[in-house]
Amino acid sequence: MTQKWNPNTYLIFEKDRSRPAIDLLSQISLDTDGGIVDLGCGPGNITKIIRDLWPNRSLTGIDISEEMINEAKKKYQKTDIHWMKADIAHWVSDEKLALIFSNAALQWIPNHEILFLKIIHNLKSNGILGIQIPLTKELNFQKAIRKITCLPKWKNYFKNVKQINNSIKINKIYQILSNDCKDINIWKTNYYHILEGNSPVTEWIKGTGLTPYLSTLSNQNKNIFLDEYKELINNMYPKQKDKKTILKMKRLFIVAKKK
Ligand SMILES: C[S@@+](CC[C@H](N)C(=O)[O-])C[C@H]1O[C@@H](n2cnc3c(N)ncnc32)[C@H](O)[C@@H]1O
Repeated sequence: MTQKWNPNTYLIFEKDRSRPAIDLLSQISLDTDGGIVDLGCGPGNITKIIRDLWPNRSLTGIDISEEMINEAKKKYQKTDIHWMKADIAHWVSDEKLALIFSNAALQWIPNHEILFLKIIHNLKSNGILGIQIPLTKELNFQKAIRKITCLPKWKNYFKNVKQINNSIKINKIYQILSNDCKDINIWKTNYYHILEGNSPVTEWIKGTGLTPYLSTLSNQNKNIFLDEYKELINNMYPKQKDKKTILKMKRLFIVAKKK
C-alpha cells in the first residue's frame, strides 16, 4: 500500500524532529574516503546538514515517497545532492560507501535482522553505519493508535496498513552487528519535545505514525478519524500552565564501524 507522506505536515516540527539526527551526527566521524547515503531522507533537510558536514563527498538521499523526494529536489536544487526514489528494503548501492545514515526511517521496514545485514554489506571497510529509530511501542500516542485502529468502525480500513517495526532487542542488534562491525555505540534517549498549538501531538503524529492510516481514508473520514484520535489522546497529553504540551519520544541510536 502506498503511503502518502506530506512534507509540509512533517516539517511543521522541523527543529524538534531534526535534533536526534544532529545528536546522531555528533557521534559520527569518517576516516575513510567514499560516498554517503541518507536512507529515508524525507524532505531532505537532514541530508542538507550532512552535505554541510562533508561537502566534498558524493551524497545521495533515498526515499520511497515521491512527495518527499520532490520536495527535497525542489528545496535543495542548488546543491549537488543526488535524490533517488527507492525502497530501502530492496536498495543496493552501486559502490561501497563511507557512511550509511538513517534517521527515523528504518522502523517502517520489516525484519531488521536481515535489513541491517543487507545495509552493512554496502559499507567499505571502516565505513560507518549511523541509525536512529524511534521506539514508540509503549508511548501513549502509539497506544492510542493501536486502540483507535482496532475499533470495529475503523479496523476494516486499515487491513493492509504496515505496522511500525521497532521492537528489536539490544542483544540481538549487537549480535547482528558484531560479526561485521567494530566500535559499536548504542544508546537510547528520551526526548521531551515542548510543543505549541491546540492539538500539537496529533499534528506531530499526523506527519509520521498516522501517515499510513490516513493514506487509506477519504478526506471526510480523515477528519472524523483525526477528531476521534484527538479526543482519545487529550487527557494523555495535558496542557501545561503556559498552554504548551510535552511530547515524550524514546529513541534508539546505533553507530558502528565496518570491520
Ligand atoms: C519520519 S520520516 C524521516 C525523514 C528524515 N530522515 C528526517 O530525519 O527528517 C520517514 C521517512 O522514511 C521514508 N520511508 C518509509 N519507508 C521507506 C522505505 N521502505 N524506503 C524508503 N523510504 C522509506 C518515508 O517516506 C519518510 O520520508
